[in-house]
Amino acid sequence: MLAAQAQVLPIAPEDTIVPDKVRAAIDVLINGEHFRHTGDPKLPLLWYLRDVLRLTGTKIAGELASSGADLVLVAGKPVPAAGVTIEQLAGREVLTVEGLAANDGTLHPLQQAFIDEDAIGCGYCTPGWLISGVALLQRKPQPTDDDIDQLPNVCRCGCQTRVRRAIKRAAAGKANVA
Ligand code: FES
Repeated sequence: MLAAQAQVLPIAPEDTIVPDKVRAAIDVLINGEHFRHTGDPKLPLLWYLRDVLRLTGTKIAGELASSGADLVLVAGKPVPAAGVTIEQLAGREVLTVEGLAANDGTLHPLQQAFIDEDAIGCGYCTPGWLISGVALLQRKPQPTDDDIDQLPNVCRCGCQTRVRRAIKRAAAGKANVA
């Protein structure tokens, strides 16, 4: 019987081995807290929020890319979290649905209005509506039905009419809107 031959693996020439450079840290401000990301700078914000910070309020828009389920506020403007990378957010301020309530747990007036108007079905779309609604109320404190209907959000549970009422209810008490 022949002795088993040891397998000899080819050794890569030294000049073909290119180690990763040390990545610069990226500082981001999310819901008023500072975070330092040292991983892949191209990581979409959506996955940083959900997988790293465990902030799962921001939802996956999936094939409903226009459903608004993954919206967050970046410097006060609604942005799809799936479409922006961590490196694009360096030094910028991000607000997710988890950051809408006050530190003592008091709901944002729009969150309260969604409850008052029973505007939540399964709840999947709700964080996106809240982000869009807050941005709309900041931009236009007395929005029209048309303004609300032009928001990019979609509700598969058919809550649009109640969402519209909720946004108008929050607008009526606009002094409380952040
Ligand atoms: Fe279910 Fe809007 S409440 S998708």
